[in-house]
Amino acid sequence: MPKSDYSLIRKAFPGLLLKWDKTQNTRQMPWKGEKDPYKIWVSEIILQQTRVAQGLDYYNKFIDAFPNVHKLAKASEAKVFKLWEGLGYYSRCRNLIASAKYISRELKGRFPDNYEAIKQLKGVGPYTAAAIASFAYNLPHAVVDGNVFRLLSRVFGINKPVDSTNGKKYFTQLAQELLDKQYPGKYNQAIMDFGAEVCKPAAPLCSSCVLNRHCSAFLNKKVNELPVKEKKIVVKKRCFYYLLLEYKNTIAIRKRIGKDIWHSLYEFLLIETKRLATERNILQQGEKNNWLPKDKYEVISTSPVFTQPLSHQLITGRFLKIRLKKKPSLQKSCLWIDSNELRRYSFPAFINTYLKQDSAV
Ligand code: ADE
Repeated sequence: MPKSDYSLIRKAFPGLLLKWDKTQNTRQMPWKGEKDPYKIWVSEIILQQTRVAQGLDYYNKFIDAFPNVHKLAKASEAKVFKLWEGLGYYSRCRNLIASAKYISRELKGRFPDNYEAIKQLKGVGPYTAAAIASFAYNLPHAVVDGNVFRLLSRVFGINKPVDSTNGKKYFTQLAQELLDKQYPGKYNQAIMDFGAEVCKPAAPLCSSCVLNRHCSAFLNKKVNELPVKEKKIVVKKRCFYYLLLEYKNTIAIRKRIGKDIWHSLYEFLLIETKRLATERNILQQGEKNNWLPKDKYEVISTSPVFTQPLSHQLITGRFLKIRLKKKPSLQKSCLWIDSNELRRYSFPAFINTYLKQDSAV
C-alpha cells in the first residue's frame, strides 16, 4: 500500500469504525456495555475458545449461579464444573475457580483495576486483560484477537503470518496505534463486532462495508488470501475404548488427573489404542488390566463408533457395556457409583453424547 494511502486509512479507520458501531451495529450480547469486571471476566474466559452463540447460554447460567466473585469462590468445584460441562478447554474452568478464590480471599473481592494486575490472573493473557481493562475501566489497551487480525490484515494488506511472533508484535502495535484513546471500551467492542458481522472469515460483506473504499484486500482482490497463517495444525488421532463396568446397581468411573485433555472430568475405564481395535482385543486388554475377571463377565452392548474433533486431536472410539458377575478390585482412583447418579458427575462431551443416545434407546 502506498505510504499516503496508508496514513489516510490509519487516520480514517477509528472514526469509520465507531460510526458504523453507532449507526449500523445491531449485535446484542448480555455482556455488552457491562461494567462489572467480574462479569466481563467470566464472559471473556468463556469466549476464549467458544463461539458467541454457544457461549451465551453458558454465560447466563454461570452468572445466575454465581452472580459475584465471592459466590464463585465459595462454590464446590463439582458444581462449577457441572455448569462448564460441554464447553471444553476445562483448564479455563480450573483457572476461573483459582482466580475467584484469590480475588475473594486475598483481594477481599476487589477485582484488579489495571492491565498488568489483571494479566497476572491465571488464564488471562494480553487479549483478555485488554478486554477487561477497556470494558470495565475504559483503559486504553487494544484487544487483538482473531477478528482483529483478520480485519487489520485485510484493510491494511498485511501478509505477515498472524501466528508468528513477529506478526503478532506487528499487529499488536498497529492495533494499539489505531485504538480510540477516548473510548477504548466502545472501540474494542466495535472492532470485534465488525470482524464477526462484516469482515467475516468466509463470505465477508465487502460490497456494503464502510471501509471498502480504503480496504487494500478488497481493492486488490486479496480478501480470501488474508490473513496469512504459517503453521498448519497437526491433528493427532486417538482411539478411546470405554468399558462401562456394571456390578449390581453400580458402575465404575474415575477422574482424569493426568496432563492431558479433559483434566478433572470423569470417565469410565479407558483403553486407548493408536488404531481402531477389535472387541476381542479390547476385552483381552481389560482382562490383562485385571478389570475384567475371566469368564465372570458378559458384554451387554457395543456402541457404534463415536468421534469428536478437538482443535488438535481427533477422538474416535466405542463404549462397551459389561455386566460383571464378580467385582474386580480396581485402582484406588476408581469409584463405584450408583448407576442413577451418573448425572451428578461432569463428563467430556464425547461421553455425554454416548450417554444421551444410550438413554434414549
Ligand atoms: N469474543 C471475545 N470477546 C468478545 C466480546 N466481548 N464480544 C464479542 N465477541 C467476543
